[in-house]
Amino acid sequence: MSNAQAIHFYDTAPEPEGSAPLLLEGLLAPQKSISPKYFYDERGSELFTEITRQPEYYPTRTEMGLLRRIAPELETHIGPDSVLVEYGSGNSEKIRILLENLRPRVYAPLDISREYLAKAAETVAAEFPWLEVRAACVDYSDTFELPPFDTDGRKTGFFPGSSIGNFSRPDAEDFLGRVRAQLGEDGGLLIGVDMKKSVDILNAAYNDTAGVTAAFNLNVLRHLNRQHGADFDLDQFEHHAAYNHDEGCVQMFLISKRSQEVSISGQLVRFEAGERIHTENSHKYSKEEFLAMAARAGFEDNHTWQDEKGWFSLFYLS
Ligand code: AVI
Repeated sequence: MSNAQAIHFYDTAPEPEGSAPLLLEGLLAPQKSISPKYFYDERGSELFTEITRQPEYYPTRTEMGLLRRIAPELETHIGPDSVLVEYGSGNSEKIRILLENLRPRVYAPLDISREYLAKAAETVAAEFPWLEVRAACVDYSDTFELPPFDTDGRKTGFFPGSSIGNFSRPDAEDFLGRVRAQLGEDGGLLIGVDMKKSVDILNAAYNDTAGVTAAFNLNVLRHLNRQHGADFDLDQFEHHAAYNHDEGCVQMFLISKRSQEVSISGQLVRFEAGERIHTENSHKYSKEEFLAMAARAGFEDNHTWQDEKGWFSLFYLS
């Protein structure tokens, strides 16, 4: 059954071309970096979905299992007729568990990957014909406004997958503060957070044997070639990911295999052999550390659930 008439699509994301100065700033700095938001072109979003199915990448299936387990309990925190706002909705896989169990009135998926978001919104709308879908293409790492909702139902944010871990700790706290303001006084946030654990498990999760994480990391260069007039040779860079104890995060890099020059929007950038481009941090938290940060961001109440190994947590903050 089609529900196409119930989809509203808001496009507030800045055009990718407009971000060239920031991109160059990162690549001309002494420690070269590319913001992880460039991972998520359509191919990058597909590769990320593939990562979540790798045996080593435990966060997604652990969080899904946890969500299924706690879904009936969530009803007491998130009432019916609510507005469910999902930050970074990707393929909208996890939200299905909430939609089935909570039957909100409106679902607002927010994502930076325009085409991927449009497809996912259509699929959800077709699957849940009673649901109003208001999708918005936004860069949620920046300030933005939520799409308008013609209901004053309570807003619940959903930020799964430990995407909060991809922010620096100060930026994560700022983000939580902005979300709190967006959701309003009576709103709540259900957020998934990956916990600190054995380094071997963490390193394996970001170095799957099928090489999907490596392909995901390298795809950022293909994205820059296509969208930002760069001429990276993907064969001349390799994937590296390892847990950094001091920073409390898994760090991903692309390592230049030889000395080379790359042109980006007409600007030449030089790489030494072995030089690294930092592409992502994935911070891991302890329960106490995360709750202290949420409290500083203005959330007063919380409920925590963990899987039996204590690898992943879901927090309901209000
Ligand atoms: C989206 N984010 C939470 C993932 C993570 O685990 O930090 C992205 C990812 N990078 C490599 N593998 C997965």
